[in-house]
Parts: sequence; C-alpha cells; structure tokens
Amino acid sequence: MKAREIKTNIHWVGAIDWDRRLFDALIPLPDGTSYNAYLVQGSEKVALIDTANPSMTHVLMANLEDVPVIDYVIANHAEQDHSGSIPRVLAKYPKAKVVTTPKGQDLLMALLLVPEDRFITVNDGETLSLGNKTLEFIHAPWVHWPETMLTYLREDKILFPCDLFGSHLATTDLYVVDEGQVYEAAKRYFAEIMMPFRTSIEKHLEKLSSYKIDIIAPSHGPMYDKPSFILEAYRSWVFGSPKNTVVLPYISMHGSTQKMVEYFVGALADRGVTVKQFNLAATDIGKLAMALVDAATLVIGTPTVLVGPHPNVAYAAFLANALRPKLQFVSIIGSYGWGSKAVEQLAGMIPNLKAEVLAPVLSKGYPREEDFQALDKLANTITEKHKERGFA
Ligand code: FEO
Repeated sequence: MKAREIKTNIHWVGAIDWDRRLFDALIPLPDGTSYNAYLVQGSEKVALIDTANPSMTHVLMANLEDVPVIDYVIANHAEQDHSGSIPRVLAKYPKAKVVTTPKGQDLLMALLLVPEDRFITVNDGETLSLGNKTLEFIHAPWVHWPETMLTYLREDKILFPCDLFGSHLATTDLYVVDEGQVYEAAKRYFAEIMMPFRTSIEKHLEKLSSYKIDIIAPSHGPMYDKPSFILEAYRSWVFGSPKNTVVLPYISMHGSTQKMVEYFVGALADRGVTVKQFNLAATDIGKLAMALVDAATLVIGTPTVLVGPHPNVAYAAFLANALRPKLQFVSIIGSYGWGSKAVEQLAGMIPNLKAEVLAPVLSKGYPREEDFQALDKLANTITEKHKERGFA
C-alpha cells in the first residue's frame, strides 16, 4: 500500500500485514493487522510518527522514498512493531532525532541499540514546532508499557495514540467503514492488550476529554474520523458495570465435566443469565479475553489431572488473572476420580481477580443427582448476586 493523504502535508505511510496470525507468539490475529506510521510535513520541519514492524521496514521505506528530509522520528512506544524500523530510518536520515519519553529512550537504546546522541526526550505537555504545525506530547504510561506517550497535532486536531484505541485489523479502509467489524477488533485488542491497565486508561481518558479531537490515528487498524465511536466504546469497557454474564472456560477428558457444564449452562440460561462457554480444547483465546471484558462471573470447568486442574484450564486461569477483568465472582466446577486439589490450585492462581469465590462443585466421577442439585444451588447464588448488584 502506497502513502495515502489524510490532510494536506499529513500522510499515512505505514504497512498492512494481511498474513500475520500471531502477535508476541501469543495473541491470535484472525484479521491480520497494520503498523501505521504517519508523516507530518510542517513549513520548517518534518516528523515521522511511529514506524513499522521490522518485517515491514521495506514497505515503510518505499513509502518514504520521495521524502528527502525527516527531522524527527516520534517514538510514542518502544515495542518493536512500532519502533522496529527506527534504525533503518535513522540510517537513511542521518540528521533525524528520535523524540520520545526518557523511559522510551532507555528502552529504545536497549531494544534497538539506538545511539544516545540520536535522541531528544520530551516531558509531559511539551511541544515541538514543525513551523506551521505543533506536536504536543502527552505522557500516557502503561498503555501498555511504562514509557508510552500520545502525540497530538494541535492545528489539525489529530491524536496519534499508538496502541491505545487500536485494532488488529488489516483493511484497505483508511477510516472506519464497517463499525461492527472494527468494534469487534478493537474490543479484542482492548481485552488482550489494554484491559490489565484499566486504571491507567481511566486517567488517560479523563485527560483526553479536555482535548478537541477530530481524528484519532492509532498505529494499528483504521483511523477514526468519528472519535466518539471508539471513545465511547473505551468508556464502556473501562467504566461500565459488568453484565449479567458468566464466562465458562472448561475442558473435559471423559465426559463428566462436560455433563456438568451442559447442565450448569442450561440452569443459568433458565434463570436469565447469559453464558459464554469456551471448550479450551479448541478455542480462540482472544474470544475468551473479549468475553471477560464485561462479564460479572467466571466459572472454570476442569477435570482432575495428576491431582490438579487440566493444564489447558490452568493456562486459561493464568490468562484471566493476568488480564485483570472486572469480574465480581469466581467459581469452579468439575470432576475427579480418586482425589483432587484442583480447586485449591486454581484458587491460588488467580490472586489478581478481586472477586468473591463462590462454593465450587466437584463430582466424584460422572455427576449424579446431588451434583446437579449443587449446580442448581450455584446457579441460584450467581443469579441472586447479579440481581443484588444490579447487573443487567
Ligand atoms: Fe503495537 Fe505495544 O505494540
């Protein structure tokens, strides 16, 4: 994809990665992604905002082929999908300086071996004049690394927030066209990348409310020419109450846990509770993360393997703990043969979830009437707790 004009002297010069299917060797990318970089040409100076993943450096450099001078490379974030092409850009433009936060300098020197004399560090609120255009730097730590900042182009009211508000979505659309598709991709992105840092994002959203923003130009996915679309989505994900929803990741080896899950999902549905069920033998972990964004309760279903939970279930519990969703209640259902420490071990794996633990239900072997009664009781408890808290 060639450079594309956003406004006079402001161009998208990034790269679209249609084929990437995994990020950080961890996160599924069902729809690919993009590494957006932006060229801002002022009357006196030229700035490149963010770069591209190293695998796409050639695309970025092709887009800069006819650009004779770059004075500043704005590094909003040091992660390599945005900073990885900086060494190549600095090699082509020997007078260019990298503009970043002090922590950004430290990380870029460590990760990419950029020499110290190539940096200008900026404080929160500091500005950089390009002549007729002014860049303002807004420190925004922990979206999602400690060094992150946002860049605001004052005259054109464009916010360049790098990862914040982004979506892993490969598309030829410069701006959001299909809101439903982008909402899903942005929510997946929030769940996987941003959710653990809700407290920081809450502060940044409040800070941004004093800025007039016409365009949000993130460094993944399409731009927002109606910023309220993504700002309102973020507000609901960050500030909104949990929903009357149970997320149920599980696995079953010989059918006992499967039977309990089937019964329990039916019992919750009969009581008007929405359930999102994920068989961990074949699930998109990103969809599980998305479901956790607004669920009130997590119920983990596991058989017993070598006295503990099934390893796939342990992985899901580890993930939920790391993502720190706004869950209010947690429980465990499952089965065992001759003995189990699955409940104790799972409970010990989720200390970050500040949730009330509801009495678990474990059956010895295939579930029987008393196990189904216990599942009904747990379904009643969850239903009542959701009602008490007003979760709709
Ligand atoms: Fe898109 Fe944190 O990098």
